[in-house]
Amino acid sequence: MADFDPSRPIPPIDQPARLASLEAAVRARTDLVPEVGIVLGSGLGGLVDGLVDEVAIPFGDLPGWPAATAPGHVGRLLLGRLDGVPVAMLQGRFHLYEGNDPGLVIQPVLLLGRLGARTIVLTNAAGGVDPTFGPGTLMIISDHLNLTGRTPLLGPNADDIGPRFTDLTDVWSARLRERLRAAFAAESVDHREGVYAALLGPTYETPAEVRMLRTMGADAVGMSTALEAIAARWAGLEVCGVSLVSNLGAGYSGQPLSHEEVLEAGLVAGPRLARVLRRFVAELGAER
Ligand code: HPA
Repeated sequence: MADFDPSRPIPPIDQPARLASLEAAVRARTDLVPEVGIVLGSGLGGLVDGLVDEVAIPFGDLPGWPAATAPGHVGRLLLGRLDGVPVAMLQGRFHLYEGNDPGLVIQPVLLLGRLGARTIVLTNAAGGVDPTFGPGTLMIISDHLNLTGRTPLLGPNADDIGPRFTDLTDVWSARLRERLRAAFAAESVDHREGVYAALLGPTYETPAEVRMLRTMGADAVGMSTALEAIAARWAGLEVCGVSLVSNLGAGYSGQPLSHEEVLEAGLVAGPRLARVLRRFVAELGAER
């Protein structure tokens, strides 16, 4: 893979062949069929601690995948059991701001589906656009604004994965959001709900942009997640997600933003979110 170029366009029609080789590479290591697929954002690696019988595959070992490069992202696919429920977790993800093509950004989520997961949980670190969303706020994602200017579904479609025109009315499943609320309540962890705005990054926003996002209906802002959610819906998977608000949006606090502060908030609120998601997965498993 010396000539590997993560920015090379991957149209939808190329995904089935790529997913077949990704699936084969995973199946060479484990036959575990996950029910739930979870993407762990910056500083949210803690959930991994509960995994039993895990198989860990570094991203760089999977065909067509670069090793994840964002600080705070380990870059591994893990398969195992969480309180008896078979799950797959992505510890890290591919971001647009790293120069990755949208078609590559969505492959981890498509692979989770291909391996058997019908439920996808997306997590991320985000800035608070609602001025009452301070560091440590956990926000159930109720909807998103894709402001990246990119779509993973550009070009000839792969009809065997999903339709040409994907309905996005109910990307963030009302059924799963209700389950998440119940898990927050059961763990006595506070939460908010709101709209996640995805921007390209890698800069944080200007204060004017944060004010603009507020008028547009955003409650939190980040640099991931929206394309993954779109792809999951395209592939017919059920999606939910939680943002860990690591900082107030630019301009609210009078302080500059830093990636260190993002990782720090993950250390504090991450374990709380891990407890909630563990409960959520266990309850989904109990439903079978
Ligand atoms: N903006 C965008 N992405 C982020 C932020 C932010 O303020 N905090 C964590 N990820």
